[in-house]
Amino acid sequence: MKHFIHTGEFSRSELETLLHNAIANKGLRSNVLAGKSIGLLFFNSSLRTRSSFEVAIAQLGGHPVTLEVGSGVWNLEFREGAVMNADKSEHIKDAARVLSRYFDALCVRSFPGLKNLAEDMQDPIVEAFRKYASIPVINMESALYHPCQAMADMLTIRERFGKTEGVKVALSWAYHIKALPTSVANSFAVAAHQFGCDVTIVAPEGYVLPAAVMNQLGNVKLSHDLNELKKQDVVYAKSWGSLENYGVPAPESLKSWMIDLDKLGPATFMHCMPLRRNVEIADDVMDSGQNACYDQAENRLHVQKEIIRMVMG
Ligand code: CP
Repeated sequence: MKHFIHTGEFSRSELETLLHNAIANKGLRSNVLAGKSIGLLFFNSSLRTRSSFEVAIAQLGGHPVTLEVGSGVWNLEFREGAVMNADKSEHIKDAARVLSRYFDALCVRSFPGLKNLAEDMQDPIVEAFRKYASIPVINMESALYHPCQAMADMLTIRERFGKTEGVKVALSWAYHIKALPTSVANSFAVAAHQFGCDVTIVAPEGYVLPAAVMNQLGNVKLSHDLNELKKQDVVYAKSWGSLENYGVPAPESLKSWMIDLDKLGPATFMHCMPLRRNVEIADDVMDSGQNACYDQAENRLHVQKEIIRMVMG
């Protein structure tokens, strides 16, 4: 059984094959999924992930079924041994086993609760589906990882620079009014390292990535200085919450970490989206020719078709 939960579970050569196929098969329409149904289970909102997965499955001749937990689908419990006398109506153990009888693969989006750090670090929801489903599971962003986004990001860098090896990329923390998950930052940093990019993480004091992620990054460079951004080929901006003050929004003193053209310099700008203009990223960046965000969003479609083909192959 092949799942796609985290790029770190795949070799560089396997990921290179995915990118190669995504480029070669851009625009591909096929019937490879004829007669097959894929469930898209969302615990959280989405614009790009939902649209790009539904279109990808349709372009491969399959049938996507989108389910929104808490909106017409029962609230699901993930804790082992839970006494389910509160707001959760069904256990993931049971839901995963039932959905495996209907679908040929299951894609899951499940953000962290941002209340219990130790629990979130176990990536409990996507891991419960991996454990109890008997069909391939694809991670559409979990508490810890967003691997489909990271593969679209690697494709975007490959297209812009003709390579990933040695491309200088900064993962830059950006201000946000809410405490956000680390998943996008985690997956981008790991994938960029796997693809041989020269990675620097630029963030304020206290905004580290989880130790389990840092352990996968080798001797990654760390900086607290936004002037580092001007030295890069690519600046990938993303806000994430403090692990020390877990779930607590960043102080207003960090508003100066909004990325604008002056901070960006000549680099290509990347962000997974959605983003808050003029809070996280300034209009002058988003409306400039340096913005690669819309290519990243398009590339979700191309890489996801290959990820689906790989796990169902
Ligand atoms: N980048 C991304 O996953 O976007 P959505 O949250 O809109 O799906």
